[in-house]
Amino acid sequence: MDENIEKNDMLENETPVEEKEELVRIEGLKEYFDIPSGLFKSKKLKAVDDVSFSIMKGETLGVVGESGCGKTTLGRTLMYLYKPTSGKIFYKNKEIKTKQDINNFRLKTTMVFQDPYSSLNPRMTVEDIVGEPLDVHRLCKGKKERKKKVLELMGLVGLPEEHATRYPHEFSGGQRQRIGIARALAVNPDFIICDEPVSALDVSIQAQVINMFEELQEKLGLTLMFIAHDILVVRHISDRIAVMYLGRVVELADADVICDKPLHPYTVTLMSAVPVPDPDTAKSSQRILLEGDIPSPLNAPSGCPFRTRCPIAGDECAIEMPKLEEVEPGRFVACYKYGQLKRTQEENSSQNNSDIEQDKPEQ
Ligand SMILES: Nc1ncnc2c1ncn2[C@@H]1O[C@H](COP(=O)(O)OP(=O)(O)OP(=O)(O)O)[C@@H](O)[C@H]1O
Ligand code: SF4
Ligand SMILES: [Mg+2]
Repeated sequence: MDENIEKNDMLENETPVEEKEELVRIEGLKEYFDIPSGLFKSKKLKAVDDVSFSIMKGETLGVVGESGCGKTTLGRTLMYLYKPTSGKIFYKNKEIKTKQDINNFRLKTTMVFQDPYSSLNPRMTVEDIVGEPLDVHRLCKGKKERKKKVLELMGLVGLPEEHATRYPHEFSGGQRQRIGIARALAVNPDFIICDEPVSALDVSIQAQVINMFEELQEKLGLTLMFIAHDILVVRHISDRIAVMYLGRVVELADADVICDKPLHPYTVTLMSAVPVPDPDTAKSSQRILLEGDIPSPLNAPSGCPFRTRCPIAGDECAIEMPKLEEVEPGRFVACYKYGQLKRTQEENSSQNNSDIEQDKPEQ
């Protein structure tokens, strides 16, 4: 992540999350896919399993986790691109139940995708790509109004007017992502689900696009769910972070708190893999390597889903799934031994530090 990204002043001084108004809430959301497993047989793949949280108006909720943990499925289910297997979704405190509720919610919610190359129709000009949602939802009265609106949207994302008649292949990755964002903004949403919107971009371009998201959020009062696998990117842009593992949220808290003092062993391992710029700190800080791959959601382990890779798993972890519980105000963790791995890591680090001090040659 580029260190030149300037933290938005507005974000530094904003209202604490707990005092904000809730925009979206999910309760026990599940998305299971039927996977054929022989003649007339199928197995349930639990891509999203019993996820509950609220997203406050104007906040950015980051979602992190390894590939396959269910981030995209969570975003798509939240937007009703997939019908939830079960669970409830509330928008402005009203449960979304009817077809009309879904349509209204979709008008206020939109998604920005990871791959700016494949998410834009190569045969359409920028003007038509950005203008299409305006047509679908009949948001403009005539061609003149449509053109004016498209140019306005292009201006918002920093695309010059003369680009309106060009095609996606004439743009760089970062510019294509800007086109995708302008299109997402066309319906005047108040909630945007960003699914790895910068992962396919060069690091310097990532910084520009992230800065743009922050500016747009301030200007338009947007609420964001920002999905990424890079915890540093997520930390930079998010107010709070939800860490996912095997379809479940295992920890959720304020972004800085979760990164500086992670409580769940999985979050501790994620943070320990983040490169430390200072060589002395790097020498003394303990890196915990995660062994093995994330298990298949088709055959999740019994009890805690992380137990097959957890360095401090005990017998009790195999029996029952730990619930996501509020262990401090605003901090949610699903682990029987939360905090223990971080404490051990800190004790080992301070031991390493004193060993390094002793090894230094006398001046
Ligand atoms: N339409 C689908 N049908 C069946 N299984 C699916 C479908 N979509 C996703 N899955 C499975 O659900 C699980 C979660 O996938 P998902 O794409 O949500 O993960 P992700 O966290 O977004 O991963 P990545 O970081 O690679 O994008 C995976 O095991 C995936 O194979
Ligand atoms: S519940 Fe047990 S296995 Fe799961 S993360 Fe906590 S200590 Fe590890
Ligand atoms: Mg994904």
